[in-house]
Amino acid sequence: MNKGVYIKTFGCQMNEYDSSKMLALLERSHGLTPVTSPEQARVLLMNTCSVREKAQEKLFSELGRWRPLKDADPNVIIAVGGCVASQEGELIWERAPFVDVVFGPQTLHRLPAMIAEVERGASRMIDISFPEIEKFDNLPPARVEGPSAFVSIMEGCSKYCSFCIVPYTRGEEFSRPFDDVITEIVDLAAAGVREVVLLGQNVNAYRGATHDGQVVDLAALIRYVAAVDGVERIRFTTSHPLEFTPRLIQTYADVPELVSHLHLPVQSGADRILALMKRGHTTLEYKSIIRRLREARPDILISTDFIVGFPGETDEDFARTMAFIEELRFDQSFSFIYSARPGTPAAALPDDVSQHEKQHRLAILQRRITEFADEYNAAMVGTTQRVLVTGHARKDARELAARTAHNRVVNFAGPADLIGDFAEVRISAALPNSLRGEWLGAALEVSA
Ligand code: SAM
Ligand code: F3S
Repeated sequence: MNKGVYIKTFGCQMNEYDSSKMLALLERSHGLTPVTSPEQARVLLMNTCSVREKAQEKLFSELGRWRPLKDADPNVIIAVGGCVASQEGELIWERAPFVDVVFGPQTLHRLPAMIAEVERGASRMIDISFPEIEKFDNLPPARVEGPSAFVSIMEGCSKYCSFCIVPYTRGEEFSRPFDDVITEIVDLAAAGVREVVLLGQNVNAYRGATHDGQVVDLAALIRYVAAVDGVERIRFTTSHPLEFTPRLIQTYADVPELVSHLHLPVQSGADRILALMKRGHTTLEYKSIIRRLREARPDILISTDFIVGFPGETDEDFARTMAFIEELRFDQSFSFIYSARPGTPAAALPDDVSQHEKQHRLAILQRRITEFADEYNAAMVGTTQRVLVTGHARKDARELAARTAHNRVVNFAGPADLIGDFAEVRISAALPNSLRGEWLGAALEVSA
């Protein structure tokens, strides 16, 4: 019988992280190893995303491809998790009665038990509840793959932006205890991890309880993580302009391990639209954060998220967004066309911007931001960068691939034993999606 587990993941880094945990759980409980095609699998998992359109369609079309495998072998188990599962719940069975297990982002740790029930003959297991902290307690330690690792520090979101489904599918914000986070990071560093990415929907809402009843915020957590032997680079994602405190800004001045790159979603450059989106801040407040960050860390690059075509967005609102981009000179941002999410407040607003207009605005915005990213890349040519060598280059396995602090891929020729460590490279050329470099030698320690 096939022993493998196949997983299909849609969506964000949170989902990628959750998927890696699901695989680790099933390996521990059922001895299942990951396989690369559905045909080889005994358990088929889908980790869904409902942040933007076509989420349901993608789920059901993928399930349609899996159905013949279940028809051919009734022992095959199909489980659907993630945000669409959380949102749709039992409705999934109306269109796909052959699914065995439905679970949400906060109950993935119960997956082994649910699968065991199905193996014992139960049909249709479902658990899409939000049992808070229990999830963190029951996840196996991360498997170390390369010198960079994600560490989940908080879950959920309580911001309730009017367009966003996440608070409904992942639940309210809750933080993982501080001691657990640090223990995991100490173990990762001991296993060779050099870069830690602190992960959550709103990591600057982090309030981790300590064993002696104190509460640690993100700014303090970063200082503790920087003090862990072996950790030389710290990133976090995603943060929110609210709660971007002076203490957090100060860490950019004080903690050299914290990279000079920040992803801080803004969504629009028009105050009227920000208010309709219920973002809780103005463009002026956002600009003030960026100004202070640039004072604390002059070489910092800021990337962001935009939504174009929010209900009621006029040409004038869009022009304000473009002027805002011009002023802030963002780097490599993510922009999306607004997509009404059933059940969110904005879905009740008239979606009055035509699809054609939305696409037009998106193209203009993306073109301008790509120009800025290209300018930043070109300015790196000739500079020396401290890069973390992650593996062999994708296009030419004789070369190495590494990442700069600004999250750029650099390919260069160098010895394979650099993999997993930092190196100094001089940037020799800027290509559309990567940089080229020349290896100068081993990297120096970061210093304040
Ligand atoms: N925590 C982040 C923040 O501060 O905004 C965002 C997390 S959200 C899951 C990721 C991105 O998806 C958002 O920044 C937004 O640009 C995009 N997004 C969310 N809902 C959307 C919708 N209904 N339509 C289009 N894009 C959406
Ligand atoms: Fe969504 Fe806004 Fe939270 S975009 S994830 S509700 S900060």
